[in-house]
Amino acid sequence: MLTGNKVILRDKRLADARDDYTWQTDPELARLDAVPRLATSFSQYLLDYTIELRYSSPFRRQFAIDTLDGKHIGNCVYYGVNETKGEAELGIMIGNRDYWDKGYGSDAVTSLLNHIFRGTNLKRVYLKTLDSNQRAQKCFQKCGFTPYGHLNRDGYSFVLMEIHRNQWGEKGKQEFKAASASSRQSDQSLS
Ligand SMILES: CC(C)(COP(=O)(O)OP(=O)(O)OC[C@H]1O[C@@H](n2cnc3c(N)ncnc32)[C@H](O)[C@@H]1OP(=O)(O)O)[C@@H](O)C(=O)NCCC(=O)NCCS
Repeated sequence: MLTGNKVILRDKRLADARDDYTWQTDPELARLDAVPRLATSFSQYLLDYTIELRYSSPFRRQFAIDTLDGKHIGNCVYYGVNETKGEAELGIMIGNRDYWDKGYGSDAVTSLLNHIFRGTNLKRVYLKTLDSNQRAQKCFQKCGFTPYGHLNRDGYSFVLMEIHRNQWGEKGKQEFKAASASSRQSDQSLS
């Protein structure tokens, strides 16, 4: 379990299936994710879901995103893990719209990056998001990702973004400096 400032990332469980099915059959979420809307029945979905939960893969790690008080609001994942190249792709979806634009996505991504860069040897994390998805791009920029190219695929236009371990380290140091400066200021105002 990984704890951020606003979210907890935890292992997926069977009780998540209803939420995940609702989000994967949502036309707007499918459009934002540039994937076809899921068209299977819930009973078939549940069957596949149960089987998938039983198997773990060294190339993929998925987490549920919960609020600190335990509400399931989305999912995130790193996948395509390539130990030789030292990289993996990141994906996220906050399925519950009530939690958009409130910092939950960036906290989940930051928590996942902390886990990846502290807990694995991976050196680079990359992702793609639609050119038109300004919210997602802003969220990823806040987490330290920078754009490095474009990709046109299946009629979609994507911006490609990446973060390297040394950039994540810099971001961590900057946050530490900012936190130290603000704590020095409050110490001075107390004295
Ligand atoms: C993309 C997503 C993960 C971002 O998570 P989130 O919790 O909404 O993001 P955050 O609140 O951390 O950051 C979003 C930022 O974008 C800004 N934003 C929102 N709409 C925007 C727009 N049209 N143009 C520019 N900025 C925008 C917000 O104001 C916020 O910035 P701020 O913190 O400086 O105010 C989440 O919204 C989501 O999953 N959306 C639906 C699915 C989706 O887009 N999937 C594709 C992911 S690749």
